[in-house]
Amino acid sequence: MNLDWANIGFGYIKTDKRYVSTWKNGAWDEGGLTSDDQITMSECACVLQYAQTCFEGLKAYTTVDGRIVTFRPDLNAKRMVDSAKRLEMPPFPEERFLDAIEQVVRANKDWVPPYGSGATLYIRPYMFGIDPVIGVKPATEYQFRTFVTPVGPYFKGGAKPIVIKVSDFDRAAPHGTGHVKAGLNYAMSLHAIVTAHEEGYAENMYLDPGTRTKVEETGGANFIFITKDGTVVTPKSDSILPSITRRSICQVAEEILGMKVEHREVLLEELSDFAECGLCGTAAVISPVGQIDDHGRSICFPSGMDEMGPTIRRLYDTLTGIQLGLLDGPEGWVHEITV
Ligand code: PLP
Ligand code: COI
Repeated sequence: MNLDWANIGFGYIKTDKRYVSTWKNGAWDEGGLTSDDQITMSECACVLQYAQTCFEGLKAYTTVDGRIVTFRPDLNAKRMVDSAKRLEMPPFPEERFLDAIEQVVRANKDWVPPYGSGATLYIRPYMFGIDPVIGVKPATEYQFRTFVTPVGPYFKGGAKPIVIKVSDFDRAAPHGTGHVKAGLNYAMSLHAIVTAHEEGYAENMYLDPGTRTKVEETGGANFIFITKDGTVVTPKSDSILPSITRRSICQVAEEILGMKVEHREVLLEELSDFAECGLCGTAAVISPVGQIDDHGRSICFPSGMDEMGPTIRRLYDTLTGIQLGLLDGPEGWVHEITV
């Protein structure tokens, strides 16, 4: 593949094959690969009228010794089951989810960016209600699909610290769908992200929608804070997505690096006490945050605007080291795709 891997952004590039399976008459069909990237559906499809759709995001990496691997895909499979149930969709079986990923990555192996290029292959499983529905109720027919696209860094500038703002909007509701990967959560965030970008910010910090006093997450990543004495702190809330990257970082910090980890409520008021801040997720990896603006008040982390702080750098190097086969991680985290 003749792509300028080092300079691709986080965008869609059409690849060769994608996976499709259809749910009809109460069962998933056997599914398979197709070259057709187009979907034809009724004007009244449930996904178009009532946004009945959820998705996942994971990556395939080329390791230092040339293998193609994915990172903890079993957790994406599980989370998609949770998302489907919350949206009244038939869950796609976890073992079939893993098989679909295996098939799509193998069929597009030439699109997996080489080791050391800084790029990765982003894998996007998703499902949606496809038959016509006009009264508000779930569809009776669904598609599960997975496509892949090579991507570079989610934020321009790669590992340079970004500036974000405390949003005036919410991305989730108390007792809503913030804890699952529903497309509607991202629709909710579009006006907020356009507004933030217009004001020169890279992302939004959302607060808890109930009291607006606690830190939740951004539109596409969880927060990770480092205290002045080196403790890793991650916000706990029922309305944020349980990030696989965040859960992995916390385990790495505790078990491999011997750091103290706290998963607890984080108040907006305590932000200025932290030494470092980062965003973590599949797309974001760990992106350092240098400054958070809150309605005229700027919180500037001591780690500054030039580079990642030292603790976030250690977490980043360990996590990506495991993903790229440079370091051994916990058993079962790295899943090899045989090509
Ligand atoms: N939070 C939101 C809202 C996301 O969209 C994502 C991306 O998947 C994450 C957090 C990070 O989750 P993960 O680490 O599982 O990719
Ligand atoms: C991911 O990290 O996989 C996501 O789904 C986040 C999205 C904003 C690209």
